[in-house]
Parts: sequence; structure tokens; C-alpha cells
Amino acid sequence: MAIIYHESSQTFHLTNGCISYIFTVLKDGHLGQIYFGAALRDRPDLTHLLEYQSSNQSPYYYVDGVEDYRFSPNQLKQEYPSFGLGDLRQGAIEVLQVNGSRYTDFRYVSHRVLNGKPTLEGLPATYTEADDEAETLEITLTDPVIHTDLVLLYTIFRDQPAIARSARLVCRNPEGIVLQKAMSASIDLPDADFEMLELAGAWAREFHMHTRPLRPGIQSVYSLRGHSSSQFNPFMALLRPGADENHGEVYGFSLVYSGNFLVQADVDFMNVTRVMLGIHPEGFSWPLAGGESFQTPEAVLVYSDKGLSGMSRAYHKLYSTRLVRGYWRDHERPILLNNWEATTFAITEEKMLQIAGKAHELGIDLFVMDDGWFGARNHDHAGLGDWTPNYEKLPSGVKGLAEKVEAMGMRFGLWFEPEMVNEDSDLFRTHPDWILHVPERPGHLIRHQYVLDFSRRDVMENLYRQMSAILREAPISYVKWDMNRSMSEVYSAALPPEQQGTVYHRFILNVYALYERLRNEFPGILFESCAGGGSRFDPGMLYYAPQAWTSDDTDAMERVRIQYGASVVYPLSSLGAHVSAVPNHQLHRITSIKARADVAYFGTFGYELDPNLLSGEEQEAIRHQVAFMKRWRRLIHQGDLYRLINPYDHDGEGAWMVVGADRREAIVAYYRFRQHVSAPLTRLPLQGLDPGLDYHILYSGETELPEPMGGDELMHYGLITSDYPSEIANPAYEPGEGDYLSRIYILKAD
Ligand code: DGJ
Repeated sequence: MAIIYHESSQTFHLTNGCISYIFTVLKDGHLGQIYFGAALRDRPDLTHLLEYQSSNQSPYYYVDGVEDYRFSPNQLKQEYPSFGLGDLRQGAIEVLQVNGSRYTDFRYVSHRVLNGKPTLEGLPATYTEADDEAETLEITLTDPVIHTDLVLLYTIFRDQPAIARSARLVCRNPEGIVLQKAMSASIDLPDADFEMLELAGAWAREFHMHTRPLRPGIQSVYSLRGHSSSQFNPFMALLRPGADENHGEVYGFSLVYSGNFLVQADVDFMNVTRVMLGIHPEGFSWPLAGGESFQTPEAVLVYSDKGLSGMSRAYHKLYSTRLVRGYWRDHERPILLNNWEATTFAITEEKMLQIAGKAHELGIDLFVMDDGWFGARNHDHAGLGDWTPNYEKLPSGVKGLAEKVEAMGMRFGLWFEPEMVNEDSDLFRTHPDWILHVPERPGHLIRHQYVLDFSRRDVMENLYRQMSAILREAPISYVKWDMNRSMSEVYSAALPPEQQGTVYHRFILNVYALYERLRNEFPGILFESCAGGGSRFDPGMLYYAPQAWTSDDTDAMERVRIQYGASVVYPLSSLGAHVSAVPNHQLHRITSIKARADVAYFGTFGYELDPNLLSGEEQEAIRHQVAFMKRWRRLIHQGDLYRLINPYDHDGEGAWMVVGADRREAIVAYYRFRQHVSAPLTRLPLQGLDPGLDYHILYSGETELPEPMGGDELMHYGLITSDYPSEIANPAYEPGEGDYLSRIYILKAD
């Protein structure tokens, strides 16, 4: 791995043998993008790859006294463009100056190469543990007219086809400037021959996969909700024609940020695709006085020549090992039972102990008490903001309950929603000005709650005091941090008019700061982020909370789609996935307890029901499922994921598998939503196995099929998923399996 600088051509070549990222200092000092893709041989001069085009209506200027109409910023591919001087496309940066100008012109000054990767203060970011894992290029550009420097950071990782980028603005201008837009990264790709993949949806319909060919103009995903949202994830992939799950070239763009974002592809008049991603400029403005600086969040760009799955595995590895931090990064995640769907707000100590007791009997590791344990929280109209136990429900408090659960031999977890408040709460009655609200305008409610003004330090401090008091007094091993509404009226009573454009970003910085403080003070606690399901499931959150509740939709078949889509970027070890009661709360659909578990295994496994209400047979099934997950969770969370049947393309089927690092073990899951009469034979060609090994196949994880199969047979002929005689002979086979069928196969080489 190396960051190579060729002085003679002023060209930078970031390469790790797998990918190359190349750009140059153009003759006027701007940075020109040359190439991002499969590794190229290094050469002292790669500038012959620059394309100079000429077209009418593109501004050009005198460079070194020469009028060169072919050298137009409007037609050059650039690294971090500004709008309006010579480039008439959307730029990555906009700076309001005292004279009203918004134009900037940053030119190269210097650069340095660092071993490893510096942290981004106050922001989540990928990291290294040893200096030789990555190299970082720090390039300083300056705009002398506004006395401001732009520092671009590029990290290339030794073992991943990934480049992490961010930008820092350093103001030396005594008059100050106001940042109106500062994207994390921008790159001009040489053509527009791509399909764009986005992960979009809604509450309880998160991570649905949508693709469309790029067209001239802007296509984007974004959030203006104050959180990354379930409407769009801060991610986009561009697929070359013919690229699919396992073949072809794919570019991934992922933003390590949890607030308002914009990820866009802008296809220009010459078919250049300008991709940029960062904080959404709408509603954003950040004043910088002389001596102050602004650091953008990080963007992670991945190149894969092994299709979408190659891109996903790169994100999985990088995010699960070098974004997630702390004890839980490397330890097996507990199997939990959460009481929410079992009781909602009807919490009593007795009920909690009954549920926890049964969960313990079934082998579950952790009991989580969800919403409803605090203040006047008997329904969702009251109590948010008052994080003290409701002693009518919990006579011995959270402490007493947690100690009793611990005494059973289980761990105890607790739910919070720190950023929110109900009007009917002591916190609101004492501090009505602590909510986001616009003077003289009505506030809007969602779920009967307001958003606390987390851009204020004092508000964040108050929540820190309330939360840490409980975490200190009670033996709490897990925290579910929820966030159940989008933001509106984003205005802070504590900030002057010129700072109102900072509120969204300050808000999220303080959420990060509170997380960081609690993580440092309670390093053993496993945090799970949540936002009414997956409405703030993003890489930024993973830096603080290694797992996230993927969706409030817990129906097994819906979850196949949701988890399939989420796995495009996020590792299985981060996807909260639980078996819930039937009929399903969201859909009223009935699926077997087996199917529900067979889907939930491919995430951080748990239950969302009252096991006391289940039949003896179902309880026995849970006991088996828990034991099964304990046996296989390491493989599932640390192995390589291969998606096999896309449930968006094949209405009625889905499949995926995980292969261990040494390829001697694998677990395969096949789901069929609808049964057909006289169904044709089906085979499932597998991926990632060792063609030279023979694999024993355990159907349902228990019953061995009579004949082992070669890795070559399994990958090229396929695993037989139609019912066949040897399978029907298995005691595990359930005749009459119809709709909502699921099958798990364990493959083990001798
Ligand atoms: C939304 C979450 O997604 C649920 O799991 C649950 O915690 C509720 N909030 C509680 O209000």
C-alpha cells in the first residue's frame, strides 16, 4: 500500500494493489481527478489520462498568460470543485463572504503523507489500530482572497478497496466567513454509464433496494429530517452495465454521519458524473471567525470488481472492525429478550421478572426493559424527559429490578429516548424553552412529542446527568437508545440569529458527544441505536453503538427484504433482528416460529415477545434456537456474506449465506414466501466455498443429509432446495410446509 507522489507531474497515486485513486495538480493549481477503480500500474506521469474537452459556453481563462479554451474548469474532472468562477456545475463548497460573494478558488499549496489515520474531532470515523494499516494524504489548498485554507484528507486502507475522504476548512480571515456548503467528498467519474442503487423506504419499510439508470441532471438521496432517516440511507452505489451481485464493477459511496445529508450524482452535458456527498446544504450555514475551522464528516468510497457483494463485504469488514469500537466489537453479542411487543407500557416489576425468568430458563442472555419504566410514562402522551423510575410500576426501582434479573444469571438492559420530551413531563414544565421551536410559530408534534434542543450544551448535560445516574446505580449491561421523531422547527432559543444554520449539525455533534461520554464512563455497556426502527441506522451511529434496531417491522418475510437491503452496506453483526409474537403486530401475518428465527439469526438475535404465553412446544423451539445461535453466532457475525436470491427480483423467494474465513463452515438460508402447486425443481448455486472440499450438509442445522457435496458441486450445480425423498425422510421435515417457508443448511467440511 502506498501513497505515491510524482513531483515531476504533481500526480498523486493512492494504491493498495487492489484499487487506484489518482489525481493531479492542474496547471492552475486546482486538483484534477484522473481515475478511481481497479489498480493501475504506477507511472511517473499519468496525466495523459486527463481529458481536455472544448465546448461552446464553457468559461476558460488566461493561465500563465496563455488563453487556453480547452482548459475550462467547466469541463475538467475535479476533486473538490467550487461553483461559479469557471465551473458552472454544482460545487462541493460555498462560502459567504463579507462582500456578499459566494465564490471560492482553492489552489494547491502543499501536502504531507501520514502513517495510519488521524481522528476527526467530535465526529465518527473509521480508524486504524496499527500505523501500517493505512496511509493518509493531507493536501492543503488555499484561497488567498478569502484567507481560508481547505485541507482535503484521503486515507487508503491496506486491506480494503476503500478510500476515506473528508475536508477541513481553516479560516484565517479576521472578517470571518460563513460556510454555506461543505461536502465531505466530490469525484468526477468519466462517464454516466451506471445504474444507481439506493436504499429507500419509510417507517417499518426500511432499506428497500431501488435501481435506476443514471440520466442527465441530478439524481440524489437525502435527509432533511435531522436524522439520517428510513426514507433514504446515506449511501448510493453506482453499478456498471452488466454488474450484478457477484460480477462487474461497482462503486459505493457511504457517509459516516447521522444528520441531514445529501448524496447525489450529477450527470453533466459531457456525460461526466459528479458524485458528491456530505451534510445537506439546505438549512446549513456555519460561521467561522478567524482562527476557527470546520471539519466535515467522513465519506467512504469503495470500488469492487466483484459486483455488489464485493462492495458489501468491503463495507462489512471495514465497518465491523474499524468503525465499530470497544469491547463489543470483538465479543459475541448477547441474545436478548425485549419486552416491548409483549407489554408495551404496561410494565410492572412482577411482569418483568416473569418474562425475564422464563427467558433465562430458555437460555437467553439479556433481558431488556423497553419504553414505559420512567416518569408518568403510562402511554405515549407523557413522561419523555423524566428519566427516573416509576415506582408505582417498579417498587424497587430500576436498580432493584436489574439486581433481581442479574441474580437470575442474566444481564439487564434499559431503553432511553434522550433527545425527546412530552409536554406532559416535569422536564418540559421546568424548561419549556428547551425544545426546538421557532418564535411566534406553532410547533408540530409527532407521536405526541417534541424534540429537545440538543444543540444546547446545557440540555445535553441535563440528559447526561439523568442517564448516567441510572447507569451508575443499577447493573445495566445494555442500552437501547431510541429516537422516535423527525425534527421540525429546527431553531434554537439559545443561539443568535447568525448561528441558526448551525443547529442541525450542533444537534448531532452533541448526540455524538453524549454517546462518547457514556461509552467512556461505562465501557462495558452494549449500546443499540434505534429510531422507531431503522430511521437512524447509519455508519455514524455504528461508531458509538455497534448494533442498531433494523426495523419495527418484525414480520419474518418482510424482514427478509429489509435485512437483505440493509446488508448492502451494514454488517450482519449490526442488524438488530428479533423473533416476535404472531399474529405479527405490524402485519397481522402468521409465520412459524422456525421461519421467524431463521430470518432473525442473520442479525443480532433476540426475542420480542412474552415467552410465558407460548406453548411448551414453542418454548422448546426457542430453547433450541438460542442454543443454535450461540453455536453459530460467531460465524454469522464474522464470516463473509453472500446474497444468493434477491427477494426484490424474485417475488416469492430470498436466500443468503455466510462463509467462514477458512471456508470450512458455512450457513445457508433459503426463504420461500409463497408455495406453488407442481412447483418446479429448485437449486440454489452457492458462493464462496472451497471447490476442492466436500461439505456435510445439516438440514435445519441438525439432520445430516445422506450425501456430502463438493464445494464445486454446491457452487456450480447448486444445493437442492426442492423437496426430495431424502429430505422428506428427515424427522425435521415438516410435511405441508406451504407459504412462508424457511430452511437453514449448515455446511461443514471434514
Ligand atoms: C420505537 C422502537 O423502534 C420500538 O422498538 C420501541 O422501543 C418503541 N419505540 C418504544 O416506544
